Amino acid sequence: MRRLNLLGVFAVAVLLLLLSSAPVLADEGEEGANFGGLAAFGVALIFTGTAYYALTKRRLFIEHRKGEPGIVVRPERPYITVFGPVYPMTIHHTFTVIGTLLALAHFATCTDYSTIGGGAGLGMAITLVLLNISGFYGRYIHIRIERTARKSEMRALKRLVVLLRRWKVFHVALVVVFLILLGVHLATVGD
Ligand code: HEM
Ligand code: HEM
Repeated sequence: MRRLNLLGVFAVAVLLLLLSSAPVLADEGEEGANFGGLAAFGVALIFTGTAYYALTKRRLFIEHRKGEPGIVVRPERPYITVFGPVYPMTIHHTFTVIGTLLALAHFATCTDYSTIGGGAGLGMAITLVLLNISGFYGRYIHIRIERTARKSEMRALKRLVVLLRRWKVFHVALVVVFLILLGVHLATVGD
């Protein structure tokens, strides 16, 4: 059993993400900085926050428990237990909001939306804002479900669970739209 320092792991992850956005940062300067590197880092944060939530929720090979920061690795499932002071949903929420703000900083410095890449960028900005609004609404449904379950109001609970299921289809559909636009954007900008 091995316990690693969570802060150290986080620092390495941030460093790797910064390194991965370095080539884009280096490309700027020639034709005016558009903070493309910042957007790349923001998108990486969004992916990290979402993947961490999705993986720990399923507990297939990584789980999250509240407690003093640290990581325990063991040979049997779920293999990795991460201890942290906050819930994975809070990580999802925080990383996606910060990532969105970084991507929007890049968006705000752009001026040409008439190209395919620019149009995809505009579409992504709208999708990201909708995703965040939708996310807060999803959290609100979660809170209502918890309250209703505590009061054992079974009919209201059933209605809320159906609402959560429908909301989630919408939330994930927005993610799919975002990924398609990101693919178009990355394939067409800088041509
Ligand atoms: C991995 C993430 C991203 C990278 C690496 C990236 C990179 C770039 C690059 C290199 C350009 C061309 C800049 C130029 O020609 O001077 C550009 C343009 C643009 N990007 Fe991004 N981008 C990313 C994500 C986003 C996101 C998430 C949005 C929207 C929220 C966005 C919106 C735009 C817009 C609207 C333009 C058009 C700029 C113009 O021609 O004025 N980008 N991007
Ligand atoms: C760019 C922004 C975002 C992206 C790409 C994103 C992506 C996702 C994805 C893919 C899932 C499904 C995870 C799974 O079940 O495996 C999810 C779930 C969820 N997200 Fe987001 N999200 C974003 C922003 C937010 C924000 C800002 C919040 C909260 C304020 C939020 C709240 C939630 C909630 C409550 C769930 C569902 C919880 C559940 O019932 O399992 N999301 N998100």
